Amino acid sequence: MKGLILAAGRGTRLRPLTHTRPKPVIRVAGRPIIHYAVENLKEAGVAEIGVVVSPETEKDIREALLGYPVRYILQEEPQGLAHAVAVAGEFLRGSPFVLYLGDNLFQRGIRPYLEAFREGVSAVLALVRVENPRQFGVAVLEGERIVRLLEKPKDPPSDLAVAGVYVFTPEVLEVIQDLKPSARGEYEITDAIQGLIDRGRRVVGVEVEGWWKDTGRPQDLLDANRLLLEELAPRVEGEVEESALTGRVVVEKGARVVRSTVIGPAFIGEGAVVEEAYVGPFTSVGPGARVVRSEVEYSILEDHALLENVGLRLQESLLGVGAEVKSRNGLPRAHRLILGDLSQVELA
Ligand code: TTP
Repeated sequence: MKGLILAAGRGTRLRPLTHTRPKPVIRVAGRPIIHYAVENLKEAGVAEIGVVVSPETEKDIREALLGYPVRYILQEEPQGLAHAVAVAGEFLRGSPFVLYLGDNLFQRGIRPYLEAFREGVSAVLALVRVENPRQFGVAVLEGERIVRLLEKPKDPPSDLAVAGVYVFTPEVLEVIQDLKPSARGEYEITDAIQGLIDRGRRVVGVEVEGWWKDTGRPQDLLDANRLLLEELAPRVEGEVEESALTGRVVVEKGARVVRSTVIGPAFIGEGAVVEEAYVGPFTSVGPGARVVRSEVEYSILEDHALLENVGLRLQESLLGVGAEVKSRNGLPRAHRLILGDLSQVELA
C-alpha cells in the first residue's frame, strides 16, 4: 500500500495567504497542515509516501516536510485530482494506494478506510454527513456500496459528501487514462470513481468518525485550529514570567510569555514572544511571532507575525508570515494600511 498526498493546488480561496505559500504549509495548532496527512498515513501503516507538488508549491512543501522520507512528484499544472494521480503513475507502479488531499484533516486518522479495503473492493471513499451537500461530491449508497457519485448536485440525493481520502486499486489509473476534462476543465476524481462503478466494480463508502475538515477557506482554518487545539496536551518548555496560564496551553521552547494572560487552549510557538498581552482561547501564535501590549483570541498568527499596541482585541483573524498589525502613534488619528492584493481588513 502506497500513499499519495496532493499538494499542487492553487489555493485561490485562501488568498492572500496562498499568494506566497501553499495551503498545506499553513500551520494549525502549531504544525503545517500537511504534517497531519503524513502522520495519519504513517499511523495507518503506509510507509511509502509520494507528495504531488507544483513548480510553485515544491520548495515550501519540501521545506515543511524536511526529515520525512517522502518522494516528490511534479505536476506542472493543477489540472485536477485525477490528473495528479496520473502524473504519479510511475511512483504508484501497480500498487494499491491511499489518495490523500493535502489540505484535509481527519481527527481519528484513516485506518477505517484501509480496513474496508479488502478483496473484491476497487475503491473506498470516506463519507461525511453534511448540512450543505450542494457544495460537495455526493454519494448515493445501496448498503455500503456506492452506486452513483454526483459533483455539487443541485438536488442532492443524500447528505453524504465525499471527504478527501480514498483508497484505490491500480485499476483507477486505467479509467483515468480515458477521462475527458469536466465542464470546469479539470480531470475529476469523481469521474474516475464513477468510471469504476460503471465497470461494475465495487466502490464502498465508510462514514468518517470524529471530525473532518477541508481547510479551503479562512473560516475552515480557524475552525481546524480550534478543533486541534482542543486535543492538545499542555506543555510549557519556554519561559513564563509574571504571567497566568489557564487551561491547555503549550509554550514551546525558546518562547517567552511575560506579564501576560494566556487562556487555553492556545499554542505559543518556538521563539514567539507574548508580552503584556492577552492570548485567548483557540489561538496559535507561530514561531517567532510577537504579541505585545495587545489582545488576541480565536486567531492564527503565522511565523514572525507581529501584533503590537493594538487597542482593540483581535478575533477570528489570520495573520500571514511576517504580517504586522500595530497602532499608529501621533497625529493624524487615522488608519494606515499597506495591504497586498486580495487582503481583507474589517475595522470595528
Ligand atoms: P482543491 O481544494 O480542489 O484546490 P486548491 O487547493 O487549489 O484550492 P482552491 O479551490 O481554493 O483554488 O484541491 C484539493 C487538494 O488537492 C489541495 O491540497 C491541492 C491538491 N490539488 C493538486 O495537487 N492538484 C490538482 O490538480 C488540484 C486541482 C488540487
